[in-house]
Amino acid sequence: MKIYVTLFVAGIIVTGLILANSGSRVMGAQAPDGKAIFLVNCAVCHQATGQGGGPYPPLAANPDVNQVDSANLIQTVLNGRTGPIMVNGTQYGGNMPSWRGELSNAEIAAVLTYVRTAWHNSGPSVSEDQVAAARAPEALSGAQLFATKCATCHQPTGQGTNTYPPLASNPVVLAADPSAMIGVIVNGRTGPLNVNGKSFNNQMPTWKGQLTDASIAAVATYIRSAWGNNASPVTEEQVAAIGSPVSVQVGASVYAKNCAACHQANGEGGVGPALAGNPHVNIANPTPMLTTILQGRNEMPSWRGQLAASDIAAVATFVRSSWGNNAGPVTVQDVKAIK
Ligand code: HEC
Ligand code: HEC
Ligand code: HEC
Repeated sequence: MKIYVTLFVAGIIVTGLILANSGSRVMGAQAPDGKAIFLVNCAVCHQATGQGGGPYPPLAANPDVNQVDSANLIQTVLNGRTGPIMVNGTQYGGNMPSWRGELSNAEIAAVLTYVRTAWHNSGPSVSEDQVAAARAPEALSGAQLFATKCATCHQPTGQGTNTYPPLASNPVVLAADPSAMIGVIVNGRTGPLNVNGKSFNNQMPTWKGQLTDASIAAVATYIRSAWGNNASPVTEEQVAAIGSPVSVQVGASVYAKNCAACHQANGEGGVGPALAGNPHVNIANPTPMLTTILQGRNEMPSWRGQLAASDIAAVATFVRSSWGNNAGPVTVQDVKAIK
């Protein structure tokens, strides 16, 4: 009998709480509905179930989504993000649009809070203030950016480790034309790399969407002038000129489908010449190489009209950064400039 009374009393209290709660929701300032925002804006790619698919990573059971620190997630939704990303052992390389101009701080906070609690996710909620702080222009100096974003891998001394290449006395960092180096910071880089006779083969993350052009210029200027390095500063305009980032992942698949039959999967050549270590491929100016790809030459087919400009930019970037090649990325604008 006692237990029934207790349950009955508890029932009244719970009902009262629900009423009070729903009352306050109607009365209070209308907080945006994160789930509704998600269904309208995000589900087309990430799916209503949060499972993603194709080039779109899952948000359900995604460790990045559930981690305590929300800074990267806020940056991703505010600024967009492109380039390789690893989620639960699978690599994705699509294009996450920027929502800076589309959604308010309160809406971004609401949709991220929804994403962090839906589908058994359990990340802490995101506040409007956190989004507002991330939207403000980056005020960190190049040295501070290096310390917080790069030093874990490249070391505070710039000497690197056996896994991460040194940036001190590194010819790519010191090159008179900084575009190859900026390209690596913007687009990331994967694959064999030789620095001053030492080999590396690992993954440099992309910073597009994670850092503003001004911040990339600041950190690039810092690494060109720290630890005895002595190269010219990098401007925001030089970073912007690298253009929209291209996906090396897309380039790899275009290459496998269209080029490997003649040039071989490892770039060592067959019917076509070796592209690995090829001096025409490794020069800073991509125009001669793009002209060959677009116009064809002897046995080399013309790819104009066969591949989209973005795919040609991607495959050229892939060829220029694979198998020990070490030339800068190619942008869609570079491809469109070829007559
Ligand atoms: C046009 C397709 C598309 C839409 C729409 C889209 N996304 Fe994305 N999203 C992506 C892609 C692709 C990536 C991975 C980007 C990469 O590879 O760098 C991504 C990445 C993310 C990530 C980072 C995941 C991680 O592991 O770090 C979050 C968080 C995210 N999206 C949330 C959202 C939210 C919230 C919305 C709606 C406001 C949204 N996305 C709308 C395509 C999309
Ligand atoms: C998670 C570890 C990691 C972080 C963080 C990281 N890097 Fe890297 N970086 C790498 C790896 C690994 C490579 C070599 C990639 C390869 O082998 O293809 C690399 C390569 C580079 C290169 C090209 C060097 C060359 O010889 O071509 C530059 C420049 C660079 N990183 C700058 C930066 C800057 C600036 C930051 C911070 C904004 C940064 N990195 C953050 C791992 C990292
Ligand atoms: C049918 C075989 C074939 C296919 C497919 C092919 N190529 Fe070629 N490629 C060649 C040949 C042969 C040459 C050398 C042409 C010459 O000698 O004038 C060449 C030359 C090149 C060059 C110039 C190299 C130099 O030293 O100047 C580049 C760059 C190149 N190919 C890239 C590509 C890319 C990227 C693709 C895929 C989109 C591709 N090729 C597909 C056969 C091919």
